[in-house]
Amino acid sequence: METTATHTEVDRQALESKVKDMYSQVADTPEADFHFEMGRALAERLGYEPTDLDRIPAESVQSFAGVGYHLDLAGIEPGDVVVDLGSGSGMDAFIAALKAGPDGRVIGIDMTEAQRDKARRLAAEAGFRNVEIRDGYIEQPPIGESSVDVVISNGVVNLSADKERVFRSAARALRPGGRLALSDIVTAKQLPETVTCDATLWAACIGGAMQREAYQQAITAAGLRITQIRENHQYRFLTDSAQGASRTFGVKSISLLAVKD
Ligand SMILES: C[S@@+](CC[C@H](N)C(=O)[O-])C[C@H]1O[C@@H](n2cnc3c(N)ncnc32)[C@H](O)[C@@H]1O
Repeated sequence: METTATHTEVDRQALESKVKDMYSQVADTPEADFHFEMGRALAERLGYEPTDLDRIPAESVQSFAGVGYHLDLAGIEPGDVVVDLGSGSGMDAFIAALKAGPDGRVIGIDMTEAQRDKARRLAAEAGFRNVEIRDGYIEQPPIGESSVDVVISNGVVNLSADKERVFRSAARALRPGGRLALSDIVTAKQLPETVTCDATLWAACIGGAMQREAYQQAITAAGLRITQIRENHQYRFLTDSAQGASRTFGVKSISLLAVKD
């Protein structure tokens, strides 16, 4: 498996366990204190349409832990097949399902059981029959080759210890002409090992952030062409240490669109 030097340093088992613990709490106790912002006020500040948020389960909005808005870039059309990598409690998957309509469908993939259980419960309660939540890893998503119109992902790829593999898998899943639209955390400068070896900082969406040019290069190397990219200045880091890292290393949220030609 291909990895960058930085990403071989973190203990992957410890990282997976920390990430699962943290996002189980995001699903089960969203009202608790976290190192990152969550919920409706964040979603609206990032650019989500209040009218979309009104039409999906409120509990999914409460557990929203994304870092940007990219559904405008995704341009989901009625009938599209959409995959949400790291779908969490389902907020983006539900909005995507509104746009894909009854002839389209959305497949959310997440490795954390509590997130999957919550998203499935909310889909059933609200009658979102075109949303399916699958157990899996974003590095090897359980999705057929060239079977998807749009891949979306929000605040998740930074948590992966093998981002190159995530982008290769997304490119493999997309049909020719398909689109990858995501929001994620990147850095201006390479983070030092004191940060990248700390599984807790990874789980808080900081330690795993990749240097921006390397991140874009990984997308390009996977066979996708980046057509739009923007910084999400509305995204704020909450803790002093995160704000310090943001200043020192230029840690930022971005949204981008890439196309499979
Ligand atoms: C920051 S949350 C974002 C969730 C959702 N996209 C949202 O906007 O609320 C990250 C999610 O990605 C999942 N996740 C992290 N790494 C993953 C991986 N390697 N494979 C599958 N899911 C992963 C976590 O379980 C968690 O639900």
